[in-house]
Amino acid sequence: MTRYQFLATILIQRIEQGLYQCGERLPSVRSLSQEHGVSISTVQQAYHLLEEKQLIVPLPRSGYFVKPRMAVAPIPAMTRPVQRPVEITTWDSVLEQICSRSDPDILQLGGSIPDLTPTTLKPLWKNISRIGQKQDISMLNYDSLHGLPRLREQIARLMIDSGCQLSEQDIVITNGCTQALSIAVRSVCNPGDIVAIESPVFHGIMQILCGFGIKVIEIPTDFSQGMSLEALELALEQWPVKAVLTVPNCNNPLGFIMPEHRKRALMTLAQRYDIAIIEDDVYGELAYDYPRPITLKSLDYEGRVLLCSSFSKMLAPGLRVGWIVPGRYLDRALHMKYTSTGSVAICPQQAVAEFIRQGHYMPHLRRMRALYQRNLGSFVNRVRHTFPEKVCISRPQGGFVLWIEFPETFDGVRLNQRLVSEKIRVYEGSLFSVAGKYRHCLRLSYAMPLTPEREEGIVRLGNVIAEMMNNPVITVG
Ligand SMILES: Cc1ncc(COP(=O)(O)O)c(C=O)c1O
Repeated sequence: MTRYQFLATILIQRIEQGLYQCGERLPSVRSLSQEHGVSISTVQQAYHLLEEKQLIVPLPRSGYFVKPRMAVAPIPAMTRPVQRPVEITTWDSVLEQICSRSDPDILQLGGSIPDLTPTTLKPLWKNISRIGQKQDISMLNYDSLHGLPRLREQIARLMIDSGCQLSEQDIVITNGCTQALSIAVRSVCNPGDIVAIESPVFHGIMQILCGFGIKVIEIPTDFSQGMSLEALELALEQWPVKAVLTVPNCNNPLGFIMPEHRKRALMTLAQRYDIAIIEDDVYGELAYDYPRPITLKSLDYEGRVLLCSSFSKMLAPGLRVGWIVPGRYLDRALHMKYTSTGSVAICPQQAVAEFIRQGHYMPHLRRMRALYQRNLGSFVNRVRHTFPEKVCISRPQGGFVLWIEFPETFDGVRLNQRLVSEKIRVYEGSLFSVAGKYRHCLRLSYAMPLTPEREEGIVRLGNVIAEMMNNPVITVG
């Protein structure tokens, strides 16, 4: 056995014994070389070996971290929603949740807001202040309807990684992914139409559909394969579905990446039943494995996919810079944009375009992917140690949200009520269903590192959950 293999064996033993916990930073190369009296390159070789074995991950300029091992909790089973068109009626609970978001006294453990503190975002601040200093009058003008050409060029380049060959003419800049989705829905549907969606689904998507008087069919969804295409086909046979709206990459809230062969099968179904596909790729760039997963758009030769995304999760949601690639619906999409916001503010578009052009975007993305993956390990570890045993936990393949399923008797709505006095808020599962399902589930976010405050919050959350599970409310039927 060579020196580096010997050192790797020692490190593996330490990881297995729990001496280095999931998500924890390993000793620096220099300190290991001193501890074991070996050269720097021997330590580096040992770390490379552990990386190959998928035991550790490097984080640029921060060192090596123990990779999350999450085979400890079962994965929830495929969801079983009601499979008929339903009107959406969940606004009140969503509104309450969204209004509580800005209360600084409440510890938010559920919101899907990215970590905005990494230093890799500094050049973005510089670009913003440079724009202010220049006092260029054009920045205060209306933007063109398509959006800033410089930014659209950069987006077209970025999208090559997702398998798309686009020109700037194919892209329309929007106010975040929310507006892109809203434009997409209005471009392909009329009020009263039916749209098929994954179940559970991001509550914002439901509200966009609700706002336009769309009925939805919730399709059962698997935690690793995504939307059940078998169930979707049954729905397409039975109902006049106008479009499928899907989040196939790093899904919110389930975290799966739909495998490529299923993406191809979904495109075949869309062709056979001649329906549009609205694809939400807002987390696609935050997949933990490289290269990032392809989009449905990259498999679209007929222009039936309307791809929606934004920089909200990759950079910052406050920029409100998103885009849509509407395919054959381009004219309709431009009209819908014109009749909703007309144009998007130029300053943030310019700041983002420069950030990408200057080469800061990819290093930032690499850093964020590694950070979120690291946070996932420590977060799941904490949850496993704190929550009662009978929980199933999703296995996110990217992004930063976690789906947790409790026994059916558990009530997440009651949990949030109980958490008011604790000044903690989580996203309870029924927010993600049209038909009020998933009350026994929660969505949590691990975007932020596990600070002592957050760790203590999870412990308090676990205590309330344990108490509720030990004293279930018996409903007399
Ligand atoms: C799946 C999904 N789509 C769209 C959005 C909204 O994105 P934006 O903030 O860019 O409007 C979110 C935000 O949480 C999301 O999770």
